[in-house]
Amino acid sequence: MSTPLQTLPLGTPLSPSAARVMLLGSGELGKEVLMALQRLGVETIAVDRYDNAPGQQVAHHARTITMSDAEQLRTLIEAERPHLVVPEIEAIATAELERLEAAGVVRVIPTARAARLTMDREGIRRLAAETLALPTSPYRFCDSQAELQAAIDGTDGQPGIGYPCIVKPVMSSSGKGQSKIDGPADVAAAWDYAMAGGRVSHGRIIVEGFIDFDYEITQLTVRAAGHGDAAQSVCTHFCEPIGHLQVSGDYVESWQPHPMSPTALQRARDIAKTITDNLGGQGLFGVELFVKGDMVWFSEVSPRPHDTGLVTLSTQTQSEFELHARAILGLPVDTSLRSPGASAVIYGGVDTQDVVFDGVADALAEPGTDLRLFGKPESFVKRRMGVALATGESIDTARDKARRAAAKVKPRAVAR
Ligand SMILES: Nc1ncnc2c1ncn2[C@@H]1O[C@H](COP(=O)(O)OP(=O)(O)OP(=O)(O)O)[C@@H](O)[C@H]1O
Ligand SMILES: [Mg+2]
Repeated sequence: MSTPLQTLPLGTPLSPSAARVMLLGSGELGKEVLMALQRLGVETIAVDRYDNAPGQQVAHHARTITMSDAEQLRTLIEAERPHLVVPEIEAIATAELERLEAAGVVRVIPTARAARLTMDREGIRRLAAETLALPTSPYRFCDSQAELQAAIDGTDGQPGIGYPCIVKPVMSSSGKGQSKIDGPADVAAAWDYAMAGGRVSHGRIIVEGFIDFDYEITQLTVRAAGHGDAAQSVCTHFCEPIGHLQVSGDYVESWQPHPMSPTALQRARDIAKTITDNLGGQGLFGVELFVKGDMVWFSEVSPRPHDTGLVTLSTQTQSEFELHARAILGLPVDTSLRSPGASAVIYGGVDTQDVVFDGVADALAEPGTDLRLFGKPESFVKRRMGVALATGESIDTARDKARRAAAKVKPRAVAR
């Protein structure tokens, strides 16, 4: 059974014929999606919680609201009447998006249901493991430290998760509130850390058995127009696997293509197809997977471009951002790799509202290196302010090059 493709006629921005797209969240990933849309003559509305967010700097219209507030979100969408609403972050009033989508007010990318399920670890994990029977780490949901201890020990009548395990708030991202528990002595601290790091204070966590994986990948998966006879249907396209390195739950380096055994690659793609078929709609997804030998576990999925996919700005014919833009507009996509490559994150290193970057020319001097400075108005020590990109003959040479370039960029606060 094939799903018919939805298309959006492209017109002239700032005129009645314009195709209008609203980004909910306008950080570095949204900025690249906005620029890809701009190139196709789409009129763009960049929404964020603070003024001068990276994407707001390149859009036709900039709006600042609290996106988790249903009232504010509805008022803005009804006032702007975009053809498409594209969530870029998780912290959005997704129930309101579902209502607006059901009422035919707007189309949400990829679907409002996908945005709701993936903003909450419980929604997506239960769908993946219980409804779709995909392999995942063992897991339990808990609402108190006592429940957490019982889930680990198995004293509540269910199989215990055991040690080591990982605790995460059900609503959090980028590793916030997430920690590993190696033994009973760590439980209280992990609970307190999760309570402090969750996005909303409803105190629910997931505890997951620790998977001792060989490596982890992001399988970028695109639901977009098919080729040839399938041009009017939604088909699934795969990018080459992206390997990445996480420190404290936050991505610091990624590279593409990550080598995989044929069996592991096939399993990764089967899992990615199953979950994205269920979430539906059109757009690009980042399916996070753990791999050990030929075994593959589903971890989570973003129904939007993935931070580790920044590497595709230098490696693919069409970056993950261009792929997302084309997919949502109903245009053909090309997921082919141009060159092996890597990305390395540049952190702020300082807390300041006036950052300057030294060493940029030096970083770009080496052939095959590139840079994105996101233009965030405020720098924090651990805030992602930019990324170094590199291509190379192998992922090892590209990784070295990207790391070298990133290290040459030195953010510095200027005295006012
Ligand atoms: N069950 C697990 N076993 C082993 N490692 C894990 C497990 N869960 C998470 N990790 C590690 O922690 C990282 C972050 O976890 P996860 O993706 O669930 O959190 P996140 O906060 O959503 O991160 P991000 O937003 O950066 O994707 C994973 O990429 C992986 O390296
Ligand atoms: Mg993740």
